[in-house]
Amino acid sequence: MQNIILVGFMGTGKTAVANILNRKTGMPLLDTDTIIEQRAGKPITAIFAEDGEPAFRVLENQVAAELAKPSGSILSTGGGIVKNPANIELLAKGGIVFCLQASVDEILRRVEGDTTRPLLQTPDRRGKIESLLTERAPLYAAIPHQIKTDGKTVDQVADEILKFYSSHLSS
Ligand code: S3P
Repeated sequence: MQNIILVGFMGTGKTAVANILNRKTGMPLLDTDTIIEQRAGKPITAIFAEDGEPAFRVLENQVAAELAKPSGSILSTGGGIVKNPANIELLAKGGIVFCLQASVDEILRRVEGDTTRPLLQTPDRRGKIESLLTERAPLYAAIPHQIKTDGKTVDQVADEILKFYSSHLSS
């Protein structure tokens, strides 16, 4: 059975939506960041600090390759997985990729107080988010199924995804 794959910038709600989808469907939930942390035996902040972002991206690509087949799972991914377009091609082999979108204001609100995202540990969070979004915009835009999340509950976003997924399965 096809996977439901969630991609999108930090703070667009991938983890929260993946949890709801898991609850609603009973499909197993796999999170690329969690798998990477388990393999590395340390949190993402430590991987970035001790080994560097390139080392993290290598692990991320390995995990994407392993998840490149249908297993009837909900896959939640790290926001930077699009940086290597091969990752999206791999993940798309296993199911439908959805890109979650949110405005900068909404992202800022959702990541407020967060200390687990190394790329956002900077005094000018807004500036950092804006520059990363600009840099990655074409990569996110290349994903065919875009889901706007501003002003929606995670439940509504999950239902929107499920509606598309079910109609795709039965077509
Ligand atoms: C990253 C996003 C994070 C995590 C890492 C790098 C990024 O995942 O993979 O900190 O480059 O955007 P979330 O999108 O789940 O925060």
